[in-house]
Amino acid sequence: MKVTISIIKADIGGCPGHAWAHPKALEFAAERLAEAQKKGLIIDYYVYSCGDDISLLMTHTKGENNPEIHGLAWNIFKEATENIAKKLKLYGAGQDLLKETFSGNVRGMGPQVAEMEIEERPSEPIVVIAADKTEPGAFNLPLFKMFADPFTTAGLVIDPEMHAGFKFEIIDVYEGRVYILDAPERIYDIMALIGTPGRYIIRRIYRKEDLLPASVISVERLNLIAGKYVGKDDPVGIIRAQHGLPAVGEILEAFAYPHMVSGWMRGSHSGPLMPAKMTAIIPEKKIALGPKMTRFDGPPKVIALGFQLHDGYLEGPVDLFDDPAFDYVRLIASFVADYIRKMGPIMPHRLPPEEMEYTTLPKVLASLKYIPVEEYEKDRYKYLKESS
Ligand code: 13P
Ligand code: 13P
Ligand code: MG
Ligand code: MG
Repeated sequence: MKVTISIIKADIGGCPGHAWAHPKALEFAAERLAEAQKKGLIIDYYVYSCGDDISLLMTHTKGENNPEIHGLAWNIFKEATENIAKKLKLYGAGQDLLKETFSGNVRGMGPQVAEMEIEERPSEPIVVIAADKTEPGAFNLPLFKMFADPFTTAGLVIDPEMHAGFKFEIIDVYEGRVYILDAPERIYDIMALIGTPGRYIIRRIYRKEDLLPASVISVERLNLIAGKYVGKDDPVGIIRAQHGLPAVGEILEAFAYPHMVSGWMRGSHSGPLMPAKMTAIIPEKKIALGPKMTRFDGPPKVIALGFQLHDGYLEGPVDLFDDPAFDYVRLIASFVADYIRKMGPIMPHRLPPEEMEYTTLPKVLASLKYIPVEEYEKDRYKYLKESS
């Protein structure tokens, strides 16, 4: 059976600030998705959050980029903005809904999209991931580890079905180019690209031998759409597991090192990506409330929810970072957060100028007066007296 898994995600307002999505907004979205399920538009759904971002996970048979599915998600976010975010005056109500009218596809309109049409295997475990206060390239390192690093994924060595390796589809979000590179053969070329996560993003990965789709990450870049800072492009993704693909535990192992990512406060700082537990899962409402963003609006956090798919139905979620094994990782992330925070507004804690281009820093810089060096050197004290 062919099933499409669609995740469409948006920040429609935070409570308070950019800390958390409001539970009422998640409930509203779940109720609307239940209606769509009754009408037969979708097979199943789940609504969950990470920080201030709400993900609509939907399964259906309509394929990727389907206007009805995208329209459903867009309308839910629009209505939740009007009925909940604006009424409760949530912070940044409608933050990620950048366009007024829907034109058949939410790509380029603000929300993040990760979709995968698959032939459901006899058993189909999937892991959905979402991160807040960071960017899609934040997943470059863990995805590389999952699908190309034998020190992370034992299956690359042990399992004949994975031994041939994987194809990496890497997108250059500035130039709109796609690179397709095989691992393990081209891992140095892969690294040459994905070491710049703000520009080159691992979007899809396929099993090399049969082109089985293994993972997909959202790559919409909000600041490139809006031309100014409107919040980070907090990413979402889908990863299939087991039976010739990385095991669930190999997927999670890739997050056992809290690497540095861009985002955090005002989308302008680097910090460790902390694997976080959900705050609450409410099965009867089909909603799961994610972690809160607290210290310096973070640190950046990633969640992982596991589901077993059966004929398009979602069995789960299982909160996969809710394990003492990850307490140690969270502790290291806290140490790293504390260490780098001490640098305050100095790089490399603060992001480099190219990454600050779309923030409010250029306005501050533009307001500063300057004197050409040669002129100044001729009569320093004149300028010193005039200065303030
Ligand atoms: P404002 O308080 O002006 O919104 O800026 C800080 C911030 O949180 C950026 O989104
Ligand atoms: P979000 O992108 O999660 O809305 O965060 C914006 C921000 O400025 C946090 O400090
Ligand atoms: Mg926000
Ligand atoms: Mg966010």
